[in-house]
Amino acid sequence: MIQHDVDLTAANTLGLPATAERLVTVTSLAQAHEALVEAERHDWPLTVIGGGSNLVLEPWLPGLVVRPALTDYWLEPADGDTVRVHVGAGVNWHELVVAMAERGLWGIENLALIPGQAGAAPIQNIGAYGVELAEVLETVHLLERDGARERVLGRDECAFGYRDSVFKHALENRVIITRLVLRLSHRPRPRLDYGDLAARVPASPSAADVVAAVSAVRREKLPDPAVLGNAGSFFTNPIVDAEKAQRLLDEWPDMPHFPLPDGHVKLAAGWLIDRCGLKGVRDGHVGVHDRQALVLVHHGGGSAAELLALAERVTAMVEARFGVRLTREPRVLGEAVPGKA
Ligand code: EPU
Repeated sequence: MIQHDVDLTAANTLGLPATAERLVTVTSLAQAHEALVEAERHDWPLTVIGGGSNLVLEPWLPGLVVRPALTDYWLEPADGDTVRVHVGAGVNWHELVVAMAERGLWGIENLALIPGQAGAAPIQNIGAYGVELAEVLETVHLLERDGARERVLGRDECAFGYRDSVFKHALENRVIITRLVLRLSHRPRPRLDYGDLAARVPASPSAADVVAAVSAVRREKLPDPAVLGNAGSFFTNPIVDAEKAQRLLDEWPDMPHFPLPDGHVKLAAGWLIDRCGLKGVRDGHVGVHDRQALVLVHHGGGSAAELLALAERVTAMVEARFGVRLTREPRVLGEAVPGKA
């Protein structure tokens, strides 16, 4: 059922005030299909919102907002020790991580406590503590907006990169992701190279031990959206060429840097912002988190415009000091000025 003028403040983890002209929650493939046909028939702009944890919402979302709520998942035995997990787009990501770890299935335990729904996970190729979704993802099932056709993309067709995929480029705003298929394994394979993760788990940890350790690290650094509005990392970690990285290291020898296989070097945006003295600053209703400078926060009563102005200020300061241009991570959706068609 399509609802009108729906308040989305609670539907985005930044807690920004926004209204959807129309909203429909789809709990089946058939309903998703119907929503697409309806939007096409009326020529409504269409926006898909999952858990709302990686979005900056402008005040007005015209047309039709679709919220996928396909919340089932099932397991299918596969080769050797592996299992295929079919996951509806509306499944809460962290609940899936916990459920898989409890079954002794390995592969996504390092991705614990990432907010949002499974359907959004491939868009930015969620990653944390040395693991990316792309490593375990087999296929993405989707509906194409044009013609409402079903399609299955294999991992190679998703063009996964660091916080990147085809869904941010050629397929941006053109599909509704309905289901993911992940390949997990019963064979223990703890990935503990990142930070002090190894020190936080017992010898021969279970997947659930890793989930607990990752969750603890995240709780220490990252604000809980239920308490303080945020969208996780607001910028991606910038990638520069080796020469540029060396010039920066000559000046700031303690700068965190991670050489990549292709010769480029990844820098830590949080460190760059921190070194500009911005950690913990507050600008009206928005600010930079006081424990992780990569996270912008909304204290309440603010707007997308205020937050984006702060992001611009942060970007300009980092560029002036380090000559590195930061890229925003969350997607900005909607319109600044309400204007009903
Ligand atoms: N740092 C600072 N000051 C800060 C923040 C970070 O000096 O305010 C330094 C840290 O000391 C460390 C380096 O920067 O040396 C990197 O920091 P951290 O290990 O906390 O990770 P990150 O690069 O800030 C990335 C992801 C996170 C993910 C963590 C752990 C991106 C954009 N962010 O953060 O993802 O949880 O690694 O893997 O890649 C998210 O995307 O929402 C997110 C939280």
